[in-house]
Amino acid sequence: MRLLIVGRLSGELVTASKIAMNRGAAVTHADGIEQGLAVLRARGGDLVMIEVSLDIRRFVTALAEERIRTPVVACGITSDAKAAVAAIQAGAKEYIPLPPDPEMIAAVLEAVAADGRSFVWRDPSMERVVKLAEQIARSDASVLITGESGTGKEVLARHVHARSNRASKPFVSVNCAAIPEALLESELFGHEKGAFTGAVARRIGRFEEANGGTLLLDEISEMDVRLQSKLLRALQERVIDRVGGSAPVKVDIRVLATSNRQLAEEVKKGTFREDLYYRLNVVHLRIPALRERPADIMELAGHFAKKYAEANGLPVRPLSREATALVTKSPWRGNVRELENTIHRAVLLASGAEIGEDAVLTPEGDAIGAVVGPAERAAQVAEAATRGLVGRTVADVERDLILDTLDHCLGNRTHAAKILGISIRTLRNKLNEYVSAGIGVAEPGSVRAAAAYG
Ligand SMILES: Nc1ncnc2c1ncn2[C@@H]1O[C@H](COP(=O)(O)OP(=O)(O)OP(=O)(O)O)[C@@H](O)[C@H]1O
Ligand SMILES: [Mg+2]
Repeated sequence: MRLLIVGRLSGELVTASKIAMNRGAAVTHADGIEQGLAVLRARGGDLVMIEVSLDIRRFVTALAEERIRTPVVACGITSDAKAAVAAIQAGAKEYIPLPPDPEMIAAVLEAVAADGRSFVWRDPSMERVVKLAEQIARSDASVLITGESGTGKEVLARHVHARSNRASKPFVSVNCAAIPEALLESELFGHEKGAFTGAVARRIGRFEEANGGTLLLDEISEMDVRLQSKLLRALQERVIDRVGGSAPVKVDIRVLATSNRQLAEEVKKGTFREDLYYRLNVVHLRIPALRERPADIMELAGHFAKKYAEANGLPVRPLSREATALVTKSPWRGNVRELENTIHRAVLLASGAEIGEDAVLTPEGDAIGAVVGPAERAAQVAEAATRGLVGRTVADVERDLILDTLDHCLGNRTHAAKILGISIRTLRNKLNEYVSAGIGVAEPGSVRAAAAYG
């Protein structure tokens, strides 16, 4: 765990950094925002603690612009609730009052390390996959993880990392589909100052950030062939070239890759390099779709019911008999992600001693595809939709469709793009357009403020 503390080192901040060091964190210190950014560009970090009096918004915005994803928590001596609220509104994830409480620091470090995720399974078919994953976790073999969208590829990748000899080193994940093609190379390999317009400072890439640890290349099938060659060189020779750099840089990483397309098919089509495929596919973990592992459904539903009740300060309620029947029968085309969203919503909607059937409904008011078949449902939706369409522009209708679908997916871009049948890149471009036009867009994990459900 690499912790960066930004702010003048008063007595309390020194205490905080000592506590963190005692808990095994490697602590770096920067006096101000610019120095802090320079440290992150050069070396990366897992967590930033920033003094509340600094311009947190500017810091968080700069991180976002440079695509540095290190979480930021604010800390300050003032117990003034307004300062804490302002810090959170400016983009901090947490506010830690000083003088620091050792337990609080430990909890924050732990939360960042664990990333709030846990991994649940029960079905024998999943048991086999997890067993294989744990067997090979300690080796440095590359692993290809495949499965439909939402089956838990990233969760499994984190599990492999957590069980490996690299567990105390960074786990860095890059979504190859979400990053514009032109930027992916510098995202992976970094760049030198002046390498291209906008490269105002040297920035290390995700390979260097993951040094000593694990790099997850998410949705690798979306990487273009030219970049695939550079990736192959990095894997074979364990060196990378920064964009605009003159000397190769050594890296020590273990690579995991995911794909929800059949990579072997892509190889046949010529869109994926065969040599890279064999390089990545040393071990193949195929996660079954949720409908192929029935014993996992209620295990996961119970896990999510508890998780979201606790996160929202609500009592933990069991699913009623009817709700259980509905959940068990449903096809879960969106896999674990859809189940998670459904249970999350149900926890918030439920009243009474149990989570009832009515709470386990999709936003359209249907019972998760179990009661109405997909064809009938599509016909119903299409009919209802066309009634209100005449007189509106295509762009207008498209925008509503995109934003509603995104709400339905609780802000999950990948899932929404799948449902819409467009690439995640196209979706992102559209969303950027809407944001520039001042239109609200659901953030990951949420729906738009004004979006109504029932
Ligand atoms: N076995 C599991 N235990 C607990 N949570 C899970 C499990 N599998 C998936 N999830 C949850 O379901 C959601 C989707 O999982 P994940 O992001 O790993 O899927 P994915 O296969 O990478 O999906 P995509 O192909 O869309 O990227 C996450 O919120 C994750 O926490
Ligand atoms: Mg994923």
